[in-house]
Amino acid sequence: MGDAKAPQQRGGYAEEVSAEELAEIGLRYEVDGEIATVTLNRPDKRNAQTSATWSALARIGAGLPEQVRVVVVKGEGPSFSAGIDLRMFTKEGVPGQGSFGSAGRQDDSSLKRLVDQAQQGFLWLRRPEIVSIAAVQGHAIGAGFQLALSCDLRIVADDVKFCMKEPALGLVPDLTGTKPLVELVGLAKAIDICLTARIVEADEAFRIGLAEHVVAGGDLGKAVADKAAQLLSTNRDAAAATKRLLQGASARTLEEQRAAEGAEQAERLRALFNAQS
Ligand code: ACO
Repeated sequence: MGDAKAPQQRGGYAEEVSAEELAEIGLRYEVDGEIATVTLNRPDKRNAQTSATWSALARIGAGLPEQVRVVVVKGEGPSFSAGIDLRMFTKEGVPGQGSFGSAGRQDDSSLKRLVDQAQQGFLWLRRPEIVSIAAVQGHAIGAGFQLALSCDLRIVADDVKFCMKEPALGLVPDLTGTKPLVELVGLAKAIDICLTARIVEADEAFRIGLAEHVVAGGDLGKAVADKAAQLLSTNRDAAAATKRLLQGASARTLEEQRAAEGAEQAERLRALFNAQS
């Protein structure tokens, strides 16, 4: 594990995030060849997230080195993440980061801008060029649950506790988690989970498709490393093209999807043929 910086541009902008800056925010970021690991690292506060967490995540995404194919998102300590830092809802807020305490006096456009900025920390985890894996132990509440939902795959420890707490607090889940939740578990189950704010434990998470694998807590790191190795065993460009196809499938008709398959395959065949000649 070495490169603590984000040296190459991948998205719309590239800003290096220093390890010191990340440590201050409660994050760690390591790149080891084709695998990047983002660790929520404020275990004493159960990896509660602030607006600084989200803007740093967005910057990590924007600067992800080209060679990275797998991004692991994990949390240090007993919980993956206890969600938004509840100080964000107080008048005092989080020192240096403001709060939502003045929301009552803000208009629609400035509040939507706040949400939009926060969402940038989550969106990049779906990019076709990478596969993101959430390694989840203990509580994944609210923003923590949505961060796990932003990843392509969830590998969980047997003590996992997912909870979409927002509706209990008078809020909606707005960190890009509602779409993957519905796609994974279906509308009825998503309504059940969100509108009761109940806890979903490991057995149920596996049964309803929220988790790909459930392992004993001590085996989580190895299970994630094994999955990363499997993902890296396929062809990089074919993997990205296939993910693009799969991501677009539900919004396309069969006719449109088979056309999309044809277009991607033409590209692949040309690349394979050119590589041989
Ligand atoms: N924001 C700020 N601080 C938090 C948060 C949070 N979301 N969650 C935990 N902490 C802090 C606690 O205040 C405590 O700090 P202290 O040691 O200075 O008193 C420390 O983390 C440990 O918390 P405990 O409650 O003692 O830990 P425990 O393991 O017993 O419980 C649990 C963990 C279940 C996650 C509990 O802390 C909790 O319910 N947290 C709040 C969850 C929540 O409502 N999140 C918001 C969801 S909505 C959204 O994310 C948009």
